[in-house]
Parts: sequence; C-alpha cells; structure tokens
Amino acid sequence: VSLKPYNTFGIAATSQYFTDISAPIDFQILMQSGLLNAFPFFILGGGSNVVFNKLFAGIVVKISLKGITVEEETADTVLVKAAAGEVWSDFVDFCVDHNFYGAENLTAIPGTVGASPVQNVGAYGVEAKDIIESVEAYEILTGKQCIFSNSDCQFDYRSSIFKTELKSKYIVASVTFRLNKLPKLNLEYGAIRTEMEKAGITDPTLADVSRIISEIREEKLPNPDKIGSAGSFFKNPVIPVAQYEALKEKYPALVAYPHKGEYKVAAGWLIEQCGWKDRQFGNVGVYPKQALVLYNLGDCTGEEVKALAKEIQQSVETHFGITLEPEAIFV
Ligand code: EPU
Repeated sequence: VSLKPYNTFGIAATSQYFTDISAPIDFQILMQSGLLNAFPFFILGGGSNVVFNKLFAGIVVKISLKGITVEEETADTVLVKAAAGEVWSDFVDFCVDHNFYGAENLTAIPGTVGASPVQNVGAYGVEAKDIIESVEAYEILTGKQCIFSNSDCQFDYRSSIFKTELKSKYIVASVTFRLNKLPKLNLEYGAIRTEMEKAGITDPTLADVSRIISEIREEKLPNPDKIGSAGSFFKNPVIPVAQYEALKEKYPALVAYPHKGEYKVAAGWLIEQCGWKDRQFGNVGVYPKQALVLYNLGDCTGEEVKALAKEIQQSVETHFGITLEPEAIFV
C-alpha cells in the first residue's frame, strides 16, 4: 500500500500490509487475530510526525475512529470526548464553536486526536496535557481496554508514558478533555499579544485567539496542504543552567526559556546560527522562515530527510555542544 497520502511529509513509501480501524469492532478483530504480535506494526494517526523509509515490512494500522461528544457538564467545565481518528483541528474548532475554553492555542496543528496524548502536542503556551482528563486505550497484547488518568500518562515536553515505558504497547481509542465554560484565555506566548494589538483587538474572543494563532502559524510554518513537512523536526533541547549560562555569555543572542529548573533552548535559533536556514539538499530543504522545519521540495525520500537531519545534528553538536533530538519519528 502506498503511504504517500498518509504522511504530511509526502514521502512515497509503501507498507507490506495496511489496515484501517474505523469502528471499535475492527479493533477487537485486529487484536484477536494476533497479527500485531506476529508482525512489526506501526500505529498511524495523521502521519504528521513520521518519516517513512521506502518500505515498511509490516502492518501499518491507520486509526480512523470518529466522533466528538459532550460527555458531562458542570457549572464551570465540560468534558468532551473525541475519538482517536478525529482530526485534531476539527476537535479544536468544535471547542471554539461551542465556546469551550482551553484548546484554542492548539489551533491548526496537523495530526489526529489519538496522537495528542502520545506526544503531548503543544503550541503557543499550551500543551495537550493542560486539557486532557483521561485517555482510553487498548492493550495490544491482551486487547484489554484501559483508562489512563492525566497523571497516569506521565506527560512531559513532547512525551508521555505512551512514548516511553509503554511504547508500542497500547493503542489510543479516544481522549476525554476538560474545557472551561468560563472565559479563560492564555495570551502570554511570544507574538500573540502584539498580533492582537496590530489587529486592533482589545477584548479578544475565543474565535479571535484561534484566528490570530492560525495567522501566526501561516506566517512561520509551511501550509500542510501545499508543502510537505513534519512541523518542527527536532525538539527544543533542555540544558542545565550552567551550560546555559556559559553559552549565553558566548552568544548573548541565544534564545532560551526557563523550563523545570533548566533551560529550553530554541532549536530553530541554533540551526539558523549554524547556517542551515533556507538551504536545499536534493529534494529536501530547511524552511526559510523557520529553521526547525525540514520540508519536501518535490519527491524527497525518507533516506534524504534522515541524512540531512543527521548533518544538522552534527553541526549543532560541533558548534554548541548540544545534541538535538528529533521530534519526528523514523519508521
Ligand atoms: N528562532 C530563530 N530562527 C528560526 C526559528 C526560531 O531564531 O529559524 C527563534 C526565534 O527567536 C523565535 C524562537 O526561536 O522567537 C522560538 O520560535 P517559535 O516561536 O517559532 O517556536 P519554536 O520553539 O521554534 C515551538 C514548537 C512548535 C510550536 C511553537 C509555538 C517545538 C519543537 N516546537 O517551536 O511546535 O508551534 O513552539 O509554540 O517545541 C511542532 O511541534 O511541530 C511545532 C510546530
């Protein structure tokens, strides 16, 4: 099966086997079949964070479960349950349209709801963990259904238990989010307030925030409908205070933010300083407006992306002594 339509990078890879899960019963059948215990498998959501090699010799399991429902309301909050195969931005739009606060800063992030707890997606000062109440998942080995509370998920920056201890052990079926019914906006990150002012918005609504964030993203990030990419290719590295202070002295323009007693450095800045921005290598390039993004110039292969990523990593390591870890997954 061609995986080209199933990855936002637009890489022309194939998989030996492919199955689409669009109803809970499909889950049960797949798990009872024992196929996942017999073959290598890869659980695919929106394909917005993967780089496929030419051939995946195993089963790709595409999760297409749909449905967004309001589960429970209190005076102040509401629980919204979204199936894993829902498009993430459709879920965010649902919340914005219903005046449920909390998801709006995560507007226009590519991918599906099922991936949101796995890698704790985040943008503009908000992470999925801030609104996730619980995660419903199936244990692959037994087919047993489990509910993970927010703290069970062990969320961290672009990480959770589903990427660490329980990697490839569970399939997310749905996520339940707790949103606010009372106005509560998060406008602290970077350019949000200045963009609001420029647009003449003094008392922003939920829809204003969602729109402004869409506009900021459009300005910096490639439009997924037009240009293939995996969004940020690397994570922003977190370094100890002493290392940060030494670097800051040498490079006063270094961009970094305090993060859990350490410093999170803007990887885009590091990559740009090493001279990679707007460079092209065969069919893959470093995005001119945001050096953290690698993009497809035509028909790039996973191998080309991997080679460029490695060169960038080596260069940042040599210049700054910092190891960049990919956010994208090589499959
Ligand atoms: N910067 C540069 N050069 C660049 C890119 C960035 O100097 O080429 C500096 C700028 O000073 C900028 C700062 O880095 O102010 C931060 O850049 P930006 O606001 O674009 O955010 P980021 O740290 O590069 C992270 C997330 C994005 C998310 C934005 C906004 C990661 C790996 N990436 O990027 O998430 O949209 O913040 O919150 O944490 C993604 O994960 O795919 C993604 C797009």
